[in-house]
Amino acid sequence: MPSESCNVVVLLSGSGSNLQALIDSTRAAPGPARICAVIANRADAYGLQRAQAAGIPTAVLEHPGFEGREAFDAALAELIDGFSPDLVVLAGFMRILSAGFVRHYQGRLLNIHPSLLPKYKGLHTHRRALEAGDAEHGCSVHFVTEELDGGPLVVQAVLPVEPDDTVESLAQRVHHHEHQIYPLAVRWFAEGRLRLGAEGALLDAQPLPACGHLIRS
Ligand code: GAR
Repeated sequence: MPSESCNVVVLLSGSGSNLQALIDSTRAAPGPARICAVIANRADAYGLQRAQAAGIPTAVLEHPGFEGREAFDAALAELIDGFSPDLVVLAGFMRILSAGFVRHYQGRLLNIHPSLLPKYKGLHTHRRALEAGDAEHGCSVHFVTEELDGGPLVVQAVLPVEPDDTVESLAQRVHHHEHQIYPLAVRWFAEGRLRLGAEGALLDAQPLPACGHLIRS
């Protein structure tokens, strides 16, 4: 870490409840993480309002006008790098990132996904867990690699699927757990405890299991 504080840039596309959880956590228990910017790929993302309410600088970069994914991602990286980030956090950023972008931020790019990865990469994770009759579901924080939703896992929250669960009730409970595990992972990173090693994620210099640190409820 170049300085005492850890500059965090958050990318989002929508509501930003995970951003809010990060803001609340850095306020409730101040640590080295400092959210220095929130960037959205949609001007109507509610997360921008959350950032503004917290006094965090915001920026919007929308893809129309760019010739392809690489051009957009290059402009996005330039924008992000203007904030000198130590960590880039994807918090509901609903775009597939190019290989060049992911490589540029290797080891300092985290994502949260609403399933117990490697299960249910992509969309509609709650519906797919219900349709499969899974007894457990949850969410995952992972380092981002070139494989979509596929990088080394850092932490997973595992929760039971109840017999009367609907997509909505399950989504709500998973979201609640996302708001616990993302601030935890960001705190670990900012404190210098979490790193991406050659073989996977390391916590306190020890390899994490393939499923990451498991939190069961
Ligand atoms: C979260 O459920 C997050 O896991 C999901 O988008 C939602 C954003 O919610 N991300 C993905 O599906 C990425 N593959 P939020 O805007 O309220 O934080």
